[in-house]
Amino acid sequence: MNDTKVTDSILYIGADDKTIDLFESQYVVPNGISYNSYVILDEKVAVMDTVDARKTDEWLANLDSALGGRDVDYLVVSHMEPDHASNIQALAEKFPGMQVVGNAKTFSMISQFFDIDLTGRSMTVKEGDSLSLGSHTLTFYMAPMVHWPEVMVTYESSEKVFFSADGFGKFGALDTEEDWACEARRYYFNIVGKYGARCRHSLRRRRPWTSRSSARCTAPF
Ligand SMILES: [Fe+2]
Repeated sequence: MNDTKVTDSILYIGADDKTIDLFESQYVVPNGISYNSYVILDEKVAVMDTVDARKTDEWLANLDSALGGRDVDYLVVSHMEPDHASNIQALAEKFPGMQVVGNAKTFSMISQFFDIDLTGRSMTVKEGDSLSLGSHTLTFYMAPMVHWPEVMVTYESSEKVFFSADGFGKFGALDTEEDWACEARRYYFNIVGKYGARCRHSLRRRRPWTSRSSARCTAPF
């Protein structure tokens, strides 16, 4: 597993996949890819996205290690594409008290992917809504069509950490030594470039991570 610490309380629990030959069954990924998921440890515990079903066991082991016996209070779903979201049901079943955090479009899509009843367990957020975990505060911003309609990004303001969904992704497993810009560019114009206007719109709006502050981004740099 890669270095697990984004900060002392925000841990990477994702997984590299170096056995996949074609991402989304069409893009060559000679250095694999990473499925990025994080846990935030505070008075409340939040998990930021899950991973692809190809890496469920490794992800659950990483999660258990990070939790140290604690329960998960919230799962934030930034994107319903399977490489982010395949384990929503598994996590909901593992932690029956966990709330699933998403926007209205997220919840209209979850029922199309999973046979799961989230009655009383769903927290629907909209642009600018915040969720306090204790000392950490998550604020949610909608980023529709970057690159599915339900996509949203999250900014954690106490440590200035930005959870960017697909927005600044790249091909390549995290431990790969390669030219970052080349594979990020190839990811962008294959995966989200079709929605370039939406990406520009999202970046140009006055939002915390677009300021000159020192926000850290959880995309796999
Ligand atoms: Fe995506």
